[in-house]
Amino acid sequence: MGLVPTMGAIHQGHLSLVEASLKECDRTAVTIFVNPTQFAPGEDLDSYPQPLEEDLNQLRALGVNMVYSPFVREVYPDAYSTYITVEGLTTMLCGKSRPAHFRGVTTVVCKFFNTFRPDRAFFGLKDYQQTVVVRRMVRDLDMNIQIRCCPIVREPDGLAMSSRNRYLSPEERQQALALSESLRIAESMITPDTSPETIRDIIQNRISSKPLARIDYIEIRHPETLEPVTDFDEGAVIALAVIFGKTRLIDNCLIAPGSDPFLSKNFKPASSSHPESYDIEVDCMR
Ligand code: PAF
Repeated sequence: MGLVPTMGAIHQGHLSLVEASLKECDRTAVTIFVNPTQFAPGEDLDSYPQPLEEDLNQLRALGVNMVYSPFVREVYPDAYSTYITVEGLTTMLCGKSRPAHFRGVTTVVCKFFNTFRPDRAFFGLKDYQQTVVVRRMVRDLDMNIQIRCCPIVREPDGLAMSSRNRYLSPEERQQALALSESLRIAESMITPDTSPETIRDIIQNRISSKPLARIDYIEIRHPETLEPVTDFDEGAVIALAVIFGKTRLIDNCLIAPGSDPFLSKNFKPASSSHPESYDIEVDCMR
């Protein structure tokens, strides 16, 4: 049994997870649930797109076995009071500006794991920190589930696919290309002698040149611990969050140990019919 948890507004990124599950598992279930506990007051919970019929049609066409789209009261009945918190990893990067976010994510993911008892669950590497946090929860709580992480799927111009991209105005959309461009340039400049600060400055300069961009963070961290790194010897994740108007976008790039960029496939344009676009050899650390 493979499980693909989503919040709906299905795009090629989600479909790549579904395809990976269909390929690896006998049965595939998809959850569609806009999880209120991972949104802070003032975030986009109320406006989050919910094109359920469209989503179901896309998932049906791929041949998923089951879609579970519960009501909020089914997941969080009256007097709901139990949460899962992964400490440490969730207070940095996105957790700094979204302090309750990962508690909501791990709680709902744990509930869906309990409901479905999947053998494998599939997550996209665009939410890199989320994959690290979920893997840690699974390890710490002895959940017998393999977490599979699939490469970022990008629009042909490089923008990482996200349900939130639809909020961007044409100008914001254009300027948002600085995220993937700066990551690609930075990745190509890494040598054994390049320092993370130099790489960070390159990215920061490029993104700051876009007048509509407000940088939340640009960080170069250890791929497992998410602690800051002083070199690329053990590999790194270059992670960033940038706000355009009301839209917060995230993107990242994994650098393999020895400064050999092993995830350049992150930059392949979307093509769900192309097998390489859902290659998930980037196994989790479990
Ligand atoms: O990545 C998402 O869409 C959500 O955080 C998830 C994993 C479905 C939990 O609500």
